[in-house]
Amino acid sequence: MTNTSDSTHIDTSQIVTNQPEADALVLFGATGDLAKRKLFPSLYHLEHSGVLQVPVIGVARSDWSDDEFRAHARESIEQHVDEAEASVIDSLMGRLDLVQGDYADEATWNELVETLDGHGSQTAVFYMAIPPSMFPMVAESLASVGLNQRGRIVVEKPFGRDLESAVELNKTLHSVFAEDHIFRIDHYLGKEAVEDLLVFRFANTLLEPVWNRHYVRSVQVTMSESIGIEGRGNFYEGVGAIRDVLQNHLLQVVALLAMEPPAGSDPGFLQDEKAKVINAMRPIDCSSLVRGQYVGYRDEEGVPEDSEVETYAAARLEIDSWRWAGVPWYVRVGKGLAESATEAVIELKSPPRMLFDEAGSPAPERNLIRLRLGKNDGVTFALQAKTPGPDMDSEEIDVDVDFAAALGERQDAYERLLGDALIGSLRRFARQDVVEGTWRIVQPALDEPGPIYPYFRTSWGPSEASTILVNDDDVWYPPSPSR
Ligand code: BG6
Repeated sequence: MTNTSDSTHIDTSQIVTNQPEADALVLFGATGDLAKRKLFPSLYHLEHSGVLQVPVIGVARSDWSDDEFRAHARESIEQHVDEAEASVIDSLMGRLDLVQGDYADEATWNELVETLDGHGSQTAVFYMAIPPSMFPMVAESLASVGLNQRGRIVVEKPFGRDLESAVELNKTLHSVFAEDHIFRIDHYLGKEAVEDLLVFRFANTLLEPVWNRHYVRSVQVTMSESIGIEGRGNFYEGVGAIRDVLQNHLLQVVALLAMEPPAGSDPGFLQDEKAKVINAMRPIDCSSLVRGQYVGYRDEEGVPEDSEVETYAAARLEIDSWRWAGVPWYVRVGKGLAESATEAVIELKSPPRMLFDEAGSPAPERNLIRLRLGKNDGVTFALQAKTPGPDMDSEEIDVDVDFAAALGERQDAYERLLGDALIGSLRRFARQDVVEGTWRIVQPALDEPGPIYPYFRTSWGPSEASTILVNDDDVWYPPSPSR
């Protein structure tokens, strides 16, 4: 069992999980891409549902007037929200102000203080939709004008580039904000289907008895995207699939699938269980890692022709816990793959013997529990039933539920996370020890990444990925077809 010995100690008992509601939202990077694609559309929905009641102050270097800023926000909503209502957009526009200036200039920070004073704000949410290299500078500048005493910060991923830089960033942020005032975003934690893993596991008596090494043969978690890097060559070259999604989104999903039940409903207990299971995970063994790169990646703008950056990674993880010892956890992430899906497949062991087999009849397939966590979220139990006819053969039948059809449409992850930050709930954010723990797991893959294998777009990645499967008859299950 390993621990992040060099991480900053946090006394989790001191963490307050619910805080006063915010009276202002400050968006750093308000004219940037994330604000445009995700934040303004989410603010629209929060305005629509009446949750947003506070002024929204954009901070940006772009030399824009308030009106230009509002026009930009309006355009982003019209682009990304179907049938947006004009009256809702108008009331949101009424909340927007822009503080324009250089982040390195003291005057920008004084103007921000004046603007917040003008609104009588005491508890603001400072949302950092800015490049990570700017996080420390912005946090320290907030402190230089006393704003760290007047709110909490929301930090976007990537949270560091490796274990060392994540620890460093935490130290810097902790010198200015307490841990319970740091809201680290992993937007997967804001997805209903991901959060449902907790309900699915702990509200269904049916599952808990089999959710362990006695009954589970393997677990596979796939996060596949059919899109490529979509013109983000410069960004992606500095990241790669392991840093971009495996260390964060995928390991958060694994933690929710593998952890023990929290001791109670206090959000701190949930974080404690995640931290425990992450600590029980061994760092990736590079002989159980396969990296791939889609053919054509090196022709993308901003990508050097000899790039060794992975657009695909598959790994076998081991969890040294009482529940999971000996069960392989296969994970894979990638771009340019056959389908977009996020899916966990729990493969159960075969029955001890077939009762009705006759010579020559095919062995039944193993039961699978497929948890779909992407757009077509839901669950499928792949069970065995008797094939009609005189023989006692069995065949697979799917017992399937589509959550959107059964439960109705759900909110977007960013809308929920912004709403949480405004009311001061840390439940769906990532705690320091969990983030550092996930970096510890992927660190060997960053230090010694090994070879990179090409694969064609629309495939399921390099065939070498099968080499990390433990048994000869193990297969990578393709995720359920999208519908
Ligand atoms: C982001 C990654 O965090 O998650 C992107 O930077 C990726 O590369 C995206 O495409 C996937 O998110 P979602 O919600 O579309 O599955």
